[in-house]
Amino acid sequence: MSGKRVFSGMQPTGKAHLGNLIGAFNNWVSMQDSYETIYCVVDLHAMSTPFEKTDLSEGRLRLAKMIIAAGVDPKRSLLYYQSEVPQHAELYWILGTLTGVGQLQRMTQFKEKSDRAGQGFGILAYPVLQAADILIHKVHAVPVGDDQAQHLELTRDLATRFNSRFGEVFPVPERITPEIGARVMSLQDPDSKMSKSDPNARATLFLDDSDDEIRKKIRSAVTDTGTEVAYDWENKAGISNLLEIFAYFSGRSIDDLAAEYGTGGYGNFKSAVAESVASGVKPIREAYEGMSDAEVVEVMRASAATAREMADRTMDDVRAAVGLS
Ligand code: AMP
Ligand code: TRP
Repeated sequence: MSGKRVFSGMQPTGKAHLGNLIGAFNNWVSMQDSYETIYCVVDLHAMSTPFEKTDLSEGRLRLAKMIIAAGVDPKRSLLYYQSEVPQHAELYWILGTLTGVGQLQRMTQFKEKSDRAGQGFGILAYPVLQAADILIHKVHAVPVGDDQAQHLELTRDLATRFNSRFGEVFPVPERITPEIGARVMSLQDPDSKMSKSDPNARATLFLDDSDDEIRKKIRSAVTDTGTEVAYDWENKAGISNLLEIFAYFSGRSIDDLAAEYGTGGYGNFKSAVAESVASGVKPIREAYEGMSDAEVVEVMRASAATAREMADRTMDDVRAAVGLS
């Protein structure tokens, strides 16, 4: 244990999929061995684009359950709903007073999503709330993908700005880039990322898919017209994506797998990938299905109470620093 504290969050929109497992949960789980880990279902962030009430309330519970099913252990990590720790929103306001509107308007996510979000104040303010999520726990590091680099930069700016204006309160957090499985691609279009909002139902492998659904989706994954199983993103993106997924679940190296399946034909290769994924996802699905809602609600409530106490200690420092005490 390095004594270092990390924080990461995920929005409860849509259903968790293979990209979330390999790109996020897997790292969240392994970091439990070497860091003090804090993970958050960022339900307030999920309100920054139009949403349905029932989707939000079901989605946050479903995501919490899936995070636990994937191996985040609530006894070792703090896992809670953002909305149950109001200090996130309080710090967000204070950080907002230090944030330039221009800087927020230049964010890629704002440019991409503000049209869909109607008037868009939520999507404009989104990165400030994310900065508050991170700074409220004075964390040292944040494991997130490349797509979050800009938000992390803003967080670092705000920490630095706050400290130089009001005195040293926040560590300036680093971004940790996950080592493996940076990008899982769509099974139907290996040039785009696997995503929960893909309109093509066969493109995304959800973590609660049945064995049969998994087999079907992998067998119908788009590949090129060749015959050789080789790791070559330029010419064989579909096969390369399956090789990465296979390597993740089998624990074997890509070279090793390519050597074994190289000339055996795509059908044979896909069947082997499908079996490996099906048996890897099965314990997660079973853990997910075996957990009662009540159990998860209780775990989340207990963690939020701890998180509120921790967050309040930071807010005491913040209030004192800015003159609110
Ligand atoms: P999202 O599902 O877009 O809310 O993403 C939540 C997190 O899951 C991201 O920050 C990534 O770390 C991870 N993630 C989502 N999609 C993928 C993907 N296709 N490949 C790898 N990681 C992903
Ligand atoms: N914006 C992140 C995403 O879309 C989710 C998020 C919210 C987050 N707050 C965070 C991630 C704090 C890391 C730390 O993936």
